[in-house]
Amino acid sequence: MIAALHARVTPKQLQEVGPTRIQLEQIICAAQSAPDHGRLKPWRFFVIEGEARHKLGRLMASALAQRSPDSTSDELAKEAAKPLRAPVIVVIACKVQPSLKVSALEQVMAVAAAAQNFQLAVHSLGYGCQWKTGPAAQDPAIKQAFDLAEADILIGFMYVGTITQPGPTRDGSLDTSRVSYWSSVL
Ligand SMILES: Cc1cc2nc3c(=O)[nH]c(=O)nc-3n(C[C@H](O)[C@H](O)[C@H](O)COP(=O)(O)O)c2cc1C
Repeated sequence: MIAALHARVTPKQLQEVGPTRIQLEQIICAAQSAPDHGRLKPWRFFVIEGEARHKLGRLMASALAQRSPDSTSDELAKEAAKPLRAPVIVVIACKVQPSLKVSALEQVMAVAAAAQNFQLAVHSLGYGCQWKTGPAAQDPAIKQAFDLAEADILIGFMYVGTITQPGPTRDGSLDTSRVSYWSSVL
């Protein structure tokens, strides 16, 4: 387990095949095991695979055209082709639940933790995952397509598939410059 945590990196390129339906359910179940203050389950998962990736691509291109009316046809075609970069895309979103006790920020943090559980579960099953956002994640038309209100957050487009080009590995050592110990009473 700890070795998997140390070894995960974002792959540069993915291709067919993606996880099976059973594996996807295991992955999403791992995501749903993230810490969730108040057990509000603010997370939502939209699995987009096969031909539906074209639908997402069209949505992304039309949102880009709306955001940036000067986009060239090449840029729009490139945007439309983005979802084809992996066999499966899982959109992970935070639908902020009404709560007096748990702030919207905490709910977003819970869903980000779920997204990281998701990445690690994908990795542990031998596939690769790229966590992407970009302007599309904040686009109102895209959020609306996933039933998200203005206050809700699209946490990531999780591209999942078989790794064809791995990402740069880390050296695996601890970066002590980012760690402080408070070990005694000051
Ligand atoms: C919330 C979030 C959004 C991200 N969005 C993008 C993105 O839109 N495009 C991108 O190339 N990388 C994005 N990344 C970064 C990659 O997922 C990845 O973490 C980064 O390339 C570093 O690789 P590593 O995971 O191997 O350290 C995002 C990461 C996070 C946590």
